[in-house]
Amino acid sequence: MIVAIDGPSGTGKSSTSKAVAAQLGLSYLDTGAQYRAITWWMVHNGIDLGDPGAIAAAAGKPEILSGTDPAAPTITVDGTDVAGPIRTQEVTSKVSAVSAVPEVRTRITELQRSIARSAETGIVVEGRDIGTTVLPDADLKIFLTASAEARAARRSGELKGADVNATREALIRRDAADSSRKTSPLAKAADAVEVDTTELTLQQVIECVVTLVEEKR
Ligand code: C5P
Repeated sequence: MIVAIDGPSGTGKSSTSKAVAAQLGLSYLDTGAQYRAITWWMVHNGIDLGDPGAIAAAAGKPEILSGTDPAAPTITVDGTDVAGPIRTQEVTSKVSAVSAVPEVRTRITELQRSIARSAETGIVVEGRDIGTTVLPDADLKIFLTASAEARAARRSGELKGADVNATREALIRRDAADSSRKTSPLAKAADAVEVDTTELTLQQVIECVVTLVEEKR
């Protein structure tokens, strides 16, 4: 059972994916964390992020490992735990420039496919291009959406009091960059089920996705 969950930032993808995987005994992969991890490594190593050629040349260098237990997902770069550093404002504001580079996408996509192939009990994979590009044969594809206001309110709540307007502008900018890049942009697969989470609680979204998975089993 492979479940692909895509959608823009702040739609509840991570919380939903983790909870659904835990409830159904599936593995869990946060593909955004992998793009954040490679971005963190590039910042840490002084790669010029204004130069796609420099990003491409460095794309194969760091070793990125993802732990897929939904109760305790992990992410390391060259053996360093980067779960905290990849959530900083600096990485968040730079990740779209790195994730748009085709060499980065090829590298990370291969990693994602190999993790999904080796997940014996099945896996929930969340991201932006899982249903369209990474795992087009997924058993179930879900595309989560929500209004920009709802997404910004959730994100600023997570960031403990961050300004809602500034968060909203940053989200819209990142979604626009992710949706307009040439290589595997953020997009709903033609055969994905769209779930608008604007008016739903997290628990309702989880229940909705669990029901959809059970119908496919
Ligand atoms: O999901 P999260 O907000 O952590 O993703 C961070 C960034 O990683 C996104 O803004 C996007 O640039 C990139 N990403 C991607 N493809 C994915 C997952 C994330 O390009 N499948």
